[in-house]
Amino acid sequence: MTDQNLAIVVLAAGQGTRMKSATPKLLHPLGGIPIVGHVLATARELDAARVIAVVRHERDRLAEVIEADLPEAVIVDQDEVPGTGRAVEQAVAALPEGFAGDVLVVNGDVPLLDAATLRELVAAHRAGGAAATILSSFPADATGYGRIVRTPEGHLDRIVEHKDATEAERAIGEINAGIYVFGAAALRDMLANVTTDNAQGEKYLTDVIGLLREAGFDVDALPVSESWLVEGINDRAQLSEAAARLNALVVRTWQLAGVTVQDPATTWIDVKVVLEPDVTILPGTQLRGATVVRTGAEIGPDTTLVDTEVGAGATVKRTDATLAVIGDGATVGPFSYLRPGTVLGANGKIGTFSETKNAVIGAGTKLAHFNYVGDAEVGEKGNLGAGVITANYDGVNKHRTVIGSHVRISTNTVLVAPVRMGDGAYTGAGTVVRKDVPPGALAITVAPQRNIEGWVAEKRPGTEAARAAEQSGAAQESGE
Ligand code: UD1
Ligand code: CA
Repeated sequence: MTDQNLAIVVLAAGQGTRMKSATPKLLHPLGGIPIVGHVLATARELDAARVIAVVRHERDRLAEVIEADLPEAVIVDQDEVPGTGRAVEQAVAALPEGFAGDVLVVNGDVPLLDAATLRELVAAHRAGGAAATILSSFPADATGYGRIVRTPEGHLDRIVEHKDATEAERAIGEINAGIYVFGAAALRDMLANVTTDNAQGEKYLTDVIGLLREAGFDVDALPVSESWLVEGINDRAQLSEAAARLNALVVRTWQLAGVTVQDPATTWIDVKVVLEPDVTILPGTQLRGATVVRTGAEIGPDTTLVDTEVGAGATVKRTDATLAVIGDGATVGPFSYLRPGTVLGANGKIGTFSETKNAVIGAGTKLAHFNYVGDAEVGEKGNLGAGVITANYDGVNKHRTVIGSHVRISTNTVLVAPVRMGDGAYTGAGTVVRKDVPPGALAITVAPQRNIEGWVAEKRPGTEAARAAEQSGAAQESGE
């Protein structure tokens, strides 16, 4: 049910200078989606009457992601006045006139915070009757955060930013998490009085807290149960810490859902991955993007799957695959490289040092060793011997190879595309197939073998080979 008295403001206009990156901070990936995507997903869960996202730095790139993730969000452009206070001021101006409900403000760079904690915050705010209620925490290292300054009686008095804080204030362990609920009217009034008179020359949203207190309003701070919930991401060290934390949560969730993860520390699972019960994941495995793994499949060790689908009971060992589909009961690896467009049928095999691209391989067909199959279609139950290669590229264009079912393609066959092999066709070892092979035919291109007797003795006299050949000849003559 939509909460008609709740509006959410997502702050996403900051520059993120501490990332030192050409990519906007909030678009850096975390668990396979942009940082801001986590905040938008949480905002959606709260089902507020309105979500407003404030953008400025790299606004088009941010807006594109926000529009895709949360189409109902209203995008507001922050002007040249910097600071979180200015961002919220402009967001509030975009609320329907006379909106008198609660405004929940969330920092776009606090991605691990869950909807349940935000619901508790809103409920606490409504029950407590304060003009604002904020989330606080006690992180191991408070450096960089705004500190919560309390009165001697323990009431929240104001927030002081790290850069503006005195030594004594910097010693305070309780920090502002950057998550707030305000009554809309009081927020509007106070924002108008916030100045840029501080170390960063910005309009701080945090100044609203002190102004509310000076005006005689109550403000509450609700400490969160665990400080990691509200850790902000400002630099890449914090990004990796948040990623590890998120990954541990994701791994644990799948373990409790019936997935064996042997080594959580070396297993990385993106948030959009889907796993079925009785999947086994061995150490050193990364499951990324929209990867799906069906029941009974075993993945790893040392495997990276990106946007790949793995069928029930399949085995994928020491493999790198992107945009591939691996059928039920199929076997892949060790050391296989499946590039986009690979589709391996049920019980098929792509083996050691084999690479595939844009290749549809039928059920039960095996490419067991040293193959390259690209821009190809292969039927069912065929066997491509060691070193079978599709020569799909003539230096200018790519061409297709179409192979029927039940073929037996011998070792080191080169299929020069465009070319077709019919059902049940064979090739001899080392064949170069340049013409179509009809169903049931054997293709061979090998010239008859010629043995030049005595060549080593004549051309390589005195070598180990010559001596060995001589001794072997003598032995044969003596009838041994
Ligand atoms: C902010 C808080 C600090 C708190 C910390 C929690 C202020 C002044 N300080 O500091 O008290 O401990 O978060 O993580 O609010 N943004 C805008 N417009 C701007 C500037 C920032 O939309 O002009 C957005 C950013 O994109 C970001 C969020 O606001 O998503 C916070 O900005 P950031 O610069 O990271 O603030 P902190 O210094 O971390
Ligand atoms: Ca921050």
